[in-house]
Amino acid sequence: MAEIVIVHDEAAAGALVADEIVRLIGADPATVLGLATGSTPLPVYEALRPRLHGVDVSRVRGFALDEYVGIDPAHPESYRSVIAREVVEPLGLDPSRIRTPDGSADGIERHGEEYEAAIAEAGGIDLQILGIGTDGHIGFNEPGSSFASRTRVKTLTEQTRRDNARFFDSIDDVPMHCITQGLGTILRARHLVLLAFGEGKAAAVAAAVEGPLTASLPGSAIQLHPHATVIVDESAASHLARADYYRYTYANKPDWQGI
Ligand code: GLP
Repeated sequence: MAEIVIVHDEAAAGALVADEIVRLIGADPATVLGLATGSTPLPVYEALRPRLHGVDVSRVRGFALDEYVGIDPAHPESYRSVIAREVVEPLGLDPSRIRTPDGSADGIERHGEEYEAAIAEAGGIDLQILGIGTDGHIGFNEPGSSFASRTRVKTLTEQTRRDNARFFDSIDDVPMHCITQGLGTILRARHLVLLAFGEGKAAAVAAAVEGPLTASLPGSAIQLHPHATVIVDESAASHLARADYYRYTYANKPDWQGI
């Protein structure tokens, strides 16, 4: 199963993941990162900033999880813009080495395959950062997504559009479609790190980690991965039946094991 780490706050989670990313880049300057958007990964990017001072990041590559379809790439809430603003620019990454799925409607039927090919050509993703939606989606793989799915176009649920309306003027401005790495794509990354904070994520986290494997809860796919780490604060951990065991395990973790 995934390793569950319950931390005091978002900053502690960010520090844990940032330390691991710096370690990876130190071992391989051409590390390939799987980048997530949304509010959840922000503490990771914030913690990375000071840690990357003096680190050569010129060869680091990155692939975003998903993008809205039909949104102007220059729109401030396109994931391309979000990744540029929150990750590429503050961390000094080379923009030409960071990719977001192409959400332009023109040729959309080919974009998924092209994205898969680009990830494969980069040698696969070393560490994939993940958030989780309140309906259990990861990336934009809404309930019902196949565990074998690859990068493709999906229709967003009403719940996700409502959740994401806070980034737009109104829910009507939230795109109806998206292009997202599939669950099968995500499962091929070498290390999955799923983060969740706050009571609103508690039910989705418990279902993903302790519930049955089911396409109805796409986050449960992480149970299939040999190296998945789930980092949650106390509120997001509040529905976990075995929280005490996870605390005990982490407290007794051998020093030589990273996350
Ligand atoms: C969005 C993104 C996901 C993200 C999720 C949670 O729809 N496509 O990648 O994990 O919603 O967002 P947040 O972290 O803001 O709660």
